[in-house]
Amino acid sequence: MKQKIQQIKEQFNEEISKISDLVKLAELEIRYLGRKAGELTQILRGLKTVPADQKKEIGQLANQLKQEMVEKIETAKKVIKGQAISSDWLDVTLPGVQWPQGHLHLVTQAISEITEIFEHVGFVRRRYPEVEWDFYAFESLNMPPDHPARDEWETFFIDPKPVGPKGQRVLTPHTSSGQVREMERKHLPIRMINISKCYRRQIDVSHAPMFHQFEGLLIDKDVTIAHLKGTLDYFAKQFFGPDRKARIRPFHFQFTEPSFEVDVSCGLCGGKGCKMCKAGWLELGGAGMVHPNVLKAGGIDPKKYSGFAFGWGVERTYMMKAGLSIPDIRMLYQSDLRFLNQF
Ligand code: PHE
Repeated sequence: MKQKIQQIKEQFNEEISKISDLVKLAELEIRYLGRKAGELTQILRGLKTVPADQKKEIGQLANQLKQEMVEKIETAKKVIKGQAISSDWLDVTLPGVQWPQGHLHLVTQAISEITEIFEHVGFVRRRYPEVEWDFYAFESLNMPPDHPARDEWETFFIDPKPVGPKGQRVLTPHTSSGQVREMERKHLPIRMINISKCYRRQIDVSHAPMFHQFEGLLIDKDVTIAHLKGTLDYFAKQFFGPDRKARIRPFHFQFTEPSFEVDVSCGLCGGKGCKMCKAGWLELGGAGMVHPNVLKAGGIDPKKYSGFAFGWGVERTYMMKAGLSIPDIRMLYQSDLRFLNQF
């Protein structure tokens, strides 16, 4: 019996020294200490049959070995687990965990691109309030109270009645509200690109109640329509591509004289005319030479200075980029990753 115990001990020591994973270790534990058929368990169970004079000694030996085995198994477990952790930490050649990476929202991307294009030719980025006085949104823009032209701006009013010398507060319906604000800074000449949120009571595939506009304003001496046309053409080429052109058509705004609608040549048909465009052209937005009354409202002498302004929607412009298929402006604001991840 003594010999048997010694044999089991040696065999166990040899086997455990070779084990380096937890599964094998668990198998070893069962083999020696398993409740039903563990080799040492059987010895312990057989103690009853040992002659009385040897019982004490053998009993001690067997129990001591059990104790040793339990301790060795515990130590081995710790070593194996420790190795797993340290090899994880130390193996710098393992590929890292790749976190999914997002990107800027499409509108943010468009705003950065537009800003950069105009900064290249000396315009300074501005952002004027979303909650605006009637004065800046309408009155200073040559639209006195009750003027019917205001209707086109489908405005959200905050105050039901004027609350001060600048009238009611509104959610600004266009970035033109930044024109007189910029003039009031009294830094001439002006080259501003105001990109801000605008609000109108409208919703369909091409209109959202909240959207962004960008507004260019240039005020200097001897500014002509040719400067406006050149700037618009520059933008069309930079933003849409070198083959694109801008054109201006006569229109009417209260705050510009003369006023124009701006079109860009169609990228799909190259200006020949197709079902995406109107005879080769796509409508962008409004523009014109700043009205003398607007200059006066901003404290600038229209006899000395002149300027041009243009403005339209960021979302719409972005949607018109060749190759993009965004059929509904509202998709830009639904945060649907299946859509956003395509860009
Ligand atoms: N603010 C006008 C609009 O929202 C566009 C415009 C800007 C027209 C500047 C002329 C000059 O429709």
